[in-house]
Amino acid sequence: MNHVRKALTVPFKTVNAKCFDTRWFSYKSPCPALQTRLFSNVGSSAKPAMSSTAGLVIPCKAAVAWEAGKPLVIQQVEVAPPQAMEVRIKIKYTSLCHTDLYFWEAKGQTPLFPRIFGHEAAGIVESLGEGVTGLEVGDHVLPVFTGECGECAHCKSDESNMCDLLRINTERGVMLSDGRSRFSINGSPINHFVGTSTFSEYTVVHSGCLAKINPLAPLDKVCVLSCGISTGLGATLNVAKPQKGSSVAIFGLGAVGLAAAEGARIAGASRIIGVDFNRGRFEQAKKFGITEFVNPKDYDRPVQEVIAEMTNGGVDRSVECTGSINAMISAFECVHDGWGVAVLVGVPSKEAVFVTKPINLLNERTLKGTFFGNYKPRTDLPSVVDMYMNKKLEVDKFITHRVPFSEINKAFELMVKGEGLRCIISLED
Ligand SMILES: NC(=O)c1ccc[n+]([C@@H]2O[C@H](COP(=O)([O-])OP(=O)(O)OC[C@H]3O[C@@H](n4cnc5c(N)ncnc54)[C@H](O)[C@@H]3O)[C@@H](O)[C@H]2O)c1
Ligand SMILES: [Zn+2]
Ligand SMILES: [Zn+2]
Repeated sequence: MNHVRKALTVPFKTVNAKCFDTRWFSYKSPCPALQTRLFSNVGSSAKPAMSSTAGLVIPCKAAVAWEAGKPLVIQQVEVAPPQAMEVRIKIKYTSLCHTDLYFWEAKGQTPLFPRIFGHEAAGIVESLGEGVTGLEVGDHVLPVFTGECGECAHCKSDESNMCDLLRINTERGVMLSDGRSRFSINGSPINHFVGTSTFSEYTVVHSGCLAKINPLAPLDKVCVLSCGISTGLGATLNVAKPQKGSSVAIFGLGAVGLAAAEGARIAGASRIIGVDFNRGRFEQAKKFGITEFVNPKDYDRPVQEVIAEMTNGGVDRSVECTGSINAMISAFECVHDGWGVAVLVGVPSKEAVFVTKPINLLNERTLKGTFFGNYKPRTDLPSVVDMYMNKKLEVDKFITHRVPFSEINKAFELMVKGEGLRCIISLED
């Protein structure tokens, strides 16, 4: 932890205290004067070359997780300026993805606290660290939990988005460049989460983990494209690649699974079988093109056998979006021999082990996995936003709840209860 403590000694100036009067601490609205100075011309062609807060520490509100499974505490944190190749952004909207919940619960994951979670979000560039190119103050951006350095073998390959430098690392709580945190409270560092930490009014992100998007896209909607929806959509369109008229099984009908179903619908699949323990998900799932529903609890035999019977030997493609190891095995074993392809998307517990008979593979079934639907964050994500802007992709139906930042814990409660799909947390209210 020594490298984290070093953060305490970094001599950053703090933003003029006048701009951070009691409104910052009463959790109502950020300093209006600062907001106006920073973003008054966002959306117009003239962007500020530099914000007045560049190079300064910004005190702001963040939702800090102090202990596994305990409600987040909204409190003031200090956000240091971005270092080389980093960008500080003002988060406008964020949403909760199951990956946040897993690491917050820390069951089967390495606990790392105190930590600022959050990785599905949309924001505006406030200031840039040294060496950042292709981004300007005022740009609208989606932060992504995995990045694109543009230089490594993965970034240069058309087949991979697993950047050597910036691929997801759930156990790192500091920034890459100097091994320190940009967040602190009274001088003590707070851990980052997957390089994004979007449950904060301001956050610092590596420039390779930011997608610059169409400034006309509504940030309170497209924020969900920064993780879950793009992940599910890409898992089907880029990895499973079902043919027109084929059958697809989707395990887990949360936002990621329903986005995978949306991908199957767009690809022209004729049967889209939804598998979930939660029957309540089915009504909603019909809006996403799910044609049949299977609840594994309704049967006393493995669900893969049920699906094989329903489909004359197995589905052509399956996409697992649960994080359950049993669902992963079922998703693989329910694809047809000879051509079936199963794609794993869910994040399993650290100890989970995938067990299947090798004959299942020898019989020409393919097992694949994907992070972020194989999209390269900087190169590909802007076009996913454009799919929404061009009405090819429906995003609104994924957004079932909205809460102000002060009520962020409600978003956690909803996800724990399995209610709704995506809850947008507004940092604007
Ligand atoms: N690979 C990636 O890049 C990536 C990105 C984002 C999210 N994820 C992961 O995708 C998964 C889904 O995320 P989400 O936000 O949609 O979660 P969610 O909680 O909204 O949905 C998960 C659904 O799976 C169902 N489920 C759980 N176990 C099941 C089982 N054994 N069989 C059938 N259904 C089961 C639940 O009832 C729930 O409806 C999570 O594991 C998340 O961590 C992965
Ligand atoms: Zn996510
Ligand atoms: Zn790279």
